[in-house]
Amino acid sequence: MKNILFIASEAVPFIKTGGLADVAGTLPKYFDKEKYDVRVMIPNYRCIPQHYKEQMRFITSFYMDLAWRSQYVGVLEMEYDGVHFYFIDNEYYFDGFKPYGYIHEDIEKFAFFSKAALSALPLIGFRPEIVHCHDWQTGLIPVYMRERFQQDSFFWNMRSIMTIHNLKFQGIWDVKAVRDITGLPASYFTPDKLEAFGDANYLKGGIVYADKVTTVSASYAEEIKTGFYGEKLDGLMRARSNDLWGIVNGIDYEEFNPETDKRIVQNYNQTTFRKEKVKNKLALQKELGLEVDAGKFMIGIVSRLTDQKGFDLIAYVMDELCAWDVQLVVLGTGEERYENMFRHFDWKYNNRVSANIYYSEDMSHKIYASCDAFLMPSLFEPCGLSQLMSLRYGTVPIVRETGGLKDTVEPYNEYESTGTGFSFANYNAHEMLGIVNYAKSIYYNKKREWNKMVDRGMLKDFSWGSSAEKYQELYDSL
Ligand code: ADP
Ligand code: GLC
Repeated sequence: MKNILFIASEAVPFIKTGGLADVAGTLPKYFDKEKYDVRVMIPNYRCIPQHYKEQMRFITSFYMDLAWRSQYVGVLEMEYDGVHFYFIDNEYYFDGFKPYGYIHEDIEKFAFFSKAALSALPLIGFRPEIVHCHDWQTGLIPVYMRERFQQDSFFWNMRSIMTIHNLKFQGIWDVKAVRDITGLPASYFTPDKLEAFGDANYLKGGIVYADKVTTVSASYAEEIKTGFYGEKLDGLMRARSNDLWGIVNGIDYEEFNPETDKRIVQNYNQTTFRKEKVKNKLALQKELGLEVDAGKFMIGIVSRLTDQKGFDLIAYVMDELCAWDVQLVVLGTGEERYENMFRHFDWKYNNRVSANIYYSEDMSHKIYASCDAFLMPSLFEPCGLSQLMSLRYGTVPIVRETGGLKDTVEPYNEYESTGTGFSFANYNAHEMLGIVNYAKSIYYNKKREWNKMVDRGMLKDFSWGSSAEKYQELYDSL
């Protein structure tokens, strides 16, 4: 039996701001349970819903040094859906209505979390052979392991993996402050270690010190070795390319299943979608005050509203996009200018644009189930889960050919009748508009072809099975 511990800043169902939570919370379910005991550790944020908190069991508590500070660390645990979760408790750091806020606070919060996670290991009755860290919030873990914990025999031979879900976010702050927070010696803040362009960089530390580095699709693993996608760490990615694996994400096929999903009005599957799927559209049109019309081409967007996701392209051609024969349903929060843009168009084209500027699991499922197409023109996309959810629900993705989008959506070829979606290559608003219009023409003029594409998409398997096998291979290689 191999023991693995995921350490992350979010995991479903407890706390989620993006795809990282889906991965950290559901991938552990899909390992071979005879051979791998994969558990998860996250912070015990105040904003985790109360009904989960009531199920947590207290394991232990102690005080820990963080440079000159001495801080309380509580450890709680619970089983959820067959997975063992640990929660690091500290009311001062994990207070607030959301997990992240101001970067200078987050820098100290996640230094605390990283050191507390390692400090807790000898006390929880579970010794991982591998600690599997996710994103910059846990970047200091491989660093602390090397700097101090591995002097203790409990940590001898313990390995670390750093998974990059998004290279854009690195946890950057000034060296002096980070030294004061972490207590790490000055020798760690050099350009071959934690320092990058004059600042301290948590993710860089993780990438330098981890035994293996992974990211969430094969294409993104290649892209981040280049200047355009490398977020100034492309040199480091090239240097570590022998240890860099690209393993594509999956989604939880139990949670995202149009046949059993309780959040949608009408269940359907790959054989019944032609008749049944549209009932979800009709219900959503009614709910959102759109014109009720089964035949209208409905495009969905469920996303963080940021530049990463290509919203500047959408903004550029918003008027043309919202043509008379299109309905656009948006669910998302993020940058104010995009929130307001969608609100404005909702007002302007009230019966065909619906802006839902909030976060809702229920509404997201309804949109995946109801729409005909799903738009995701990302500037970069490490993997992307929304397009996988769309495919699962028979909603045809329209994406830009980058990162995981390129690896998971096969472009439609009308001559060979192949493909599961539509894609375009260049980050150009009119190229995007062109492909949306092309999709629309197939939808309106070649409905049989469209339905065959839906069919092919629903047949694809993006459950966690094969990705989990790759992670197992990775664990075995250490
Ligand atoms: P990222 O992690 O970069 O945000 P992903 O596509 O990997 O992108 O994952 C996004 C996840 O967050 C998906 O599960 C998507 O359904 C969900 N999501 C994004 N915005 C919202 C929202 N406003 N309401 C509900 N779910 C959302
Ligand atoms: C990040 C990426 C997204 C990926 C997710 C889970 O948030 O932006 O592309 O799917 O992590 O790995």
